Amino acid sequence: MSLAVGPQPRPDLRWQQPLVRDPELQPPSRSYSWIPGPWKLREKLGSMESVYIIDPEDVALLFKFEGPTPERFSIPPWVAYHQHFQRPLGVLLKKSGAWKKDRLALNQEVMSPEAIKNFIPLLDPVSQDFVKVLHRRIKLQGSGKFSGDISDNLFRFAFESITNVMFGERLGMLEEVVDPDAQRFIDAVYQMFHTSVPMLNFPPDLFRLFKTKTWRDHVAAWDVIFNKAEAYTQNFYWDLRHKRDFNNYPCILQRLLRSHKLLFEDVKANITEMLAGGVDTTSMTLQWHLYEMARSLKVQEMLREEVRAARRQAQGDISMMLQHVPLLKASIKETLRLHPISVTLQRYLENDLVLRNYMIPAKTLVQVSTYALGQDPTFFLNPGKFDPTRWLSKDKELIHFRNLGFGWGVRQCVGRRIAELEMTLFLIHILENFRVEMQHLSDVGTTFNLILMPDKPILLTFRPYSQDPPQV
Ligand code: HEM
Repeated sequence: MSLAVGPQPRPDLRWQQPLVRDPELQPPSRSYSWIPGPWKLREKLGSMESVYIIDPEDVALLFKFEGPTPERFSIPPWVAYHQHFQRPLGVLLKKSGAWKKDRLALNQEVMSPEAIKNFIPLLDPVSQDFVKVLHRRIKLQGSGKFSGDISDNLFRFAFESITNVMFGERLGMLEEVVDPDAQRFIDAVYQMFHTSVPMLNFPPDLFRLFKTKTWRDHVAAWDVIFNKAEAYTQNFYWDLRHKRDFNNYPCILQRLLRSHKLLFEDVKANITEMLAGGVDTTSMTLQWHLYEMARSLKVQEMLREEVRAARRQAQGDISMMLQHVPLLKASIKETLRLHPISVTLQRYLENDLVLRNYMIPAKTLVQVSTYALGQDPTFFLNPGKFDPTRWLSKDKELIHFRNLGFGWGVRQCVGRRIAELEMTLFLIHILENFRVEMQHLSDVGTTFNLILMPDKPILLTFRPYSQDPPQV
């Protein structure tokens, strides 16, 4: 899950004199305090104050000096909801030692190569079922192809995937008729992100005190997330204890319970956050990936060739195939460069930090402008081009501190390895089965819904691969 951006008021913040002052530079406007170079800006928007950076060399320094328990900006309405209703926190909102304890326990069970290997048999069948969904749509449209918006199916795919790795049980979200409660969870996650936006720049307590619709909708969304996650966890916990062979069941819930490193309350809080974090993130990224492949048919063909060669080489063994698709993995980085989930990464400085001769005091919120970085020709050659090969360049300088889609360091996305595996498997099956095209050639913009999303439906065409496209 990913976040963006704007700090609580920090009245104690005092801007330090720069160590070097460039007399040529003038503040560009009254609302900004200017720091030399086009890429560092101190900005105050309402009560929010941050330093923004974009140059990968500065990003490298920021992360090099982050402490052992880095802190990012906590979304105020999320904090307000958790505090007001005394909801338990997981790694998303915990701090210091409490965060570290949870995070170390989670890393072992959701990030380690050994854990991830076990998730392949849980995730691969979900991707195969998605192919079946598309074939059903093709049959239904009766024209040998399917054209339309598949975002709802992608949300369901992502939820089916994350629940299967969490609980080791399929919910049937890729059937034609789905459990309305599970659909409510998916809708609630979207609502939770969406209703966060108006409360970013004003104290959420104001929204709460005046019982505004935004606050009520936000609370309702979190309530559904918590109640459903609790019900799922309790159900599957009961199943694990009473019905199943506890030792041969490799889902995350079982792994966390078996490790005895976290109290059951903390397990539940973290499962809730991972369920919420695992829906819109992967589904949006996959949607953007399909969009980019549909606009760059040559790249799509290269990816398909790689996947086919990998299948031949691995003789159908999917775990082995995953080791032979570097371009496909690079294409996910490339998608996140152009379409990151979060507009920035954020860190509160643990100590004073000197960047380009300017001293930024400890506790300042520094935001890495990942979205802007991904589009900047200073840091990416021909940035508008969807070119996964750039990530495979021998010149490591070209990619140094630029792959930031999942964040960085010990506080990077805890779902990263699951998301990468889930998306790679999905793309393998799509590429093997369909040619993906745009239904209409039109640009799709980006909108800020706390996470970044397409600003209009993306209309794609899926053609079974054996069938050639019509001549135009
Ligand atoms: C394409 C998919 C995803 C993207 C791009 C993404 C991106 C991110 C980013 C940028 C962060 C902040 C990292 C930082 O501050 O350095 C983050 C944190 C987080 N993500 Fe993801 N995420 C994705 C999928 C997932 C999934 C599948 C899960 C659930 C398993 C998840 C759960 C979380 C959680 C719980 C955190 C907070 C971690 C902590 O503070 O220790 N994310 N994500």
